[in-house]
Amino acid sequence: MQVVSISSLKGGVGKTSVTLGLASAALAAGIPTLVVDLDPHADATTGLGVRAGGQLDIGRLLKNARRADLAANTVPSGWVETAIEQNLAGSGAKPVLDVAMGSAFSGIYDRPDLGRRDLRRLSMLLSRVTGYGLVLIDCPPSLNGLTRMAWTASNRVLLVAEPGLFSVAGTERTMRAIELFKAEYAPGLQTAGIVANRVRSSSNEHTFRLAEMKQMFNELLLSPTIAEQANWQQIQGAAHAVHHWPGESARQASEYFDELLRSLVGAGRLRSRVARR
Ligand SMILES: Nc1ncnc2c1ncn2[C@@H]1O[C@H](COP(=O)(O)OP(=O)(O)OP(=O)(O)O)[C@@H](O)[C@H]1O
Ligand SMILES: [Mg+2]
Repeated sequence: MQVVSISSLKGGVGKTSVTLGLASAALAAGIPTLVVDLDPHADATTGLGVRAGGQLDIGRLLKNARRADLAANTVPSGWVETAIEQNLAGSGAKPVLDVAMGSAFSGIYDRPDLGRRDLRRLSMLLSRVTGYGLVLIDCPPSLNGLTRMAWTASNRVLLVAEPGLFSVAGTERTMRAIELFKAEYAPGLQTAGIVANRVRSSSNEHTFRLAEMKQMFNELLLSPTIAEQANWQQIQGAAHAVHHWPGESARQASEYFDELLRSLVGAGRLRSRVARR
């Protein structure tokens, strides 16, 4: 089970959008996936079209991490029904895209001074969960307790950055924070790379910042970069998977995320799905 945190120190750069894009690609590829919405704003939960029926949110599960049953409290994304209706989920077993719902309650752990025992709360919950090939954790925009709890539970961290001065500087600080965190708490944690999001190829500033990022981060800057999409908010507002949205720009965005997912989970697992298209 590959557990990936999607993080950035800076807010609004596209963590949730990248989480949703990867979840959409994983659903299309038939990879059983769990999205853990660790941001108290719960944007990923909203975007995944979740209809809760009495399940506990992640904050309450974390509070009782020793005994709580995460598997019994996940909710299927509304995207799954659409995938089945549109016959996009491939043949075979019913597709799996589950959500551990976010809520403001998880904010009680978003402190800068979270101790070692509290940092292990999410790992503890995930250690009793089976059946997923991929777990995506959408983090809040800080390096406080919740992000550090996500890193403790993860194999890899995927950073998201916009090609702007503040975001690039924030990414450098985040990389340093990951190195320090690894040394102290999570020696096995890897940096999956940096996704540049909202890239406008016509912008000289973006071209300059991307070149700067390439120089600073080298092969950690992932390819492809994600372009600014005119209809992004409309797709997210409708709580739809980008793979289910009609039109050329959504198709192109789906391909970015297919490729990004391939770099996270390895090419082999996606090959069969691509062949079916
Ligand atoms: N590639 C893109 N093209 C167009 N709009 C985008 C793109 N990526 C993100 N956005 C928009 O930018 C806004 C912020 O994105 P998002 O919520 O994914 O960022 P975030 O890093 O999760 O924010 P936060 O730090 O608040 O959690 C959203 O309105 C989203 O629709
Ligand atoms: Mg977010």
